Amino acid sequence: RVSYVNGRYVAHRDAAVHVDDRGHHFADAVYEVLPVVAGRLCHLDQHLDRLERSLAALAISWPVPRRVMPIILAEVVRRNRLKDGLVYIQTSRGVAPRYHPFPLDTPAGLVVSAWAHSGPAAAQIEQGVRVVSQSDLRWKRPDIKATGLLPNVLARQSAREAGAFEAWLINDQGVVTEGSATNIFIVGPDGALLTHPADNSILAGVTRGNVLRLARNLGLEVGERPFTLAESLRAREAFLTGTTMMVMPVVRVDDTTIGEGRPGPLTLRLRDLYQELRR
Ligand code: PDD
Repeated sequence: RVSYVNGRYVAHRDAAVHVDDRGHHFADAVYEVLPVVAGRLCHLDQHLDRLERSLAALAISWPVPRRVMPIILAEVVRRNRLKDGLVYIQTSRGVAPRYHPFPLDTPAGLVVSAWAHSGPAAAQIEQGVRVVSQSDLRWKRPDIKATGLLPNVLARQSAREAGAFEAWLINDQGVVTEGSATNIFIVGPDGALLTHPADNSILAGVTRGNVLRLARNLGLEVGERPFTLAESLRAREAFLTGTTMMVMPVVRVDDTTIGEGRPGPLTLRLRDLYQELRR
């Protein structure tokens, strides 16, 4: 495996950043994960648009000009002979002695790595997965794709310990915001497709955006509005979206079965359409 670290392509086992990198000290860094399908970078502009927004929100400058990013990403894919997988991009505020205020004249850091990934197991897609609800303990800007993911890690770990696939994060108002690394959709009792609005309290997933577009093209009634955990338990269908799992049916939330307890028709339709979009 080959990775890119601050201007150099290096063997992955030697790919390292300095201990004084601000990503290491403060999680003062942003990231992206994007799919590679048949050797091609997928939804590249959408991911770079979001990276640009994350960088701007934290006043981190591009580590290389934006137009150079596709060249580096394609080179990492090429050097790894990657067909189907994921590319990881991380940009930090750079290397500086540990001191909270921004360092002056320190160039931003950039690492890019890639690995093979074939998506979730077929059984999970066919049968759907179980999720558990957890308090959303994150800061108030999850719309910024920053690397400080400790609350997400803890939520995902307790989901795993409960035998569930994902954690649904619930805010103080009882609203379902998103998953630890996914966005959440439900089909309400009236048949409308609902997902949390892309405000400051969720990450606006690239998959979420694409699935919303597909749903609107189908003529479905789509609402971007908050819904509570109680509402979601009465849903006809539910699913997760994200780069690593595309559209994943949810059949159980805590101890409540969703709909008929198997992936719903709308979920499967959107999953098929989304898979075509990736080809
Ligand atoms: N996670 N919400 C959160 C909190 C996420 O971390 C992610 C992505 C998503 C889905 O976004 P997208 O559709 O753009 O992948 C939603 C990445 C893949 C991760 O941290 O592994």
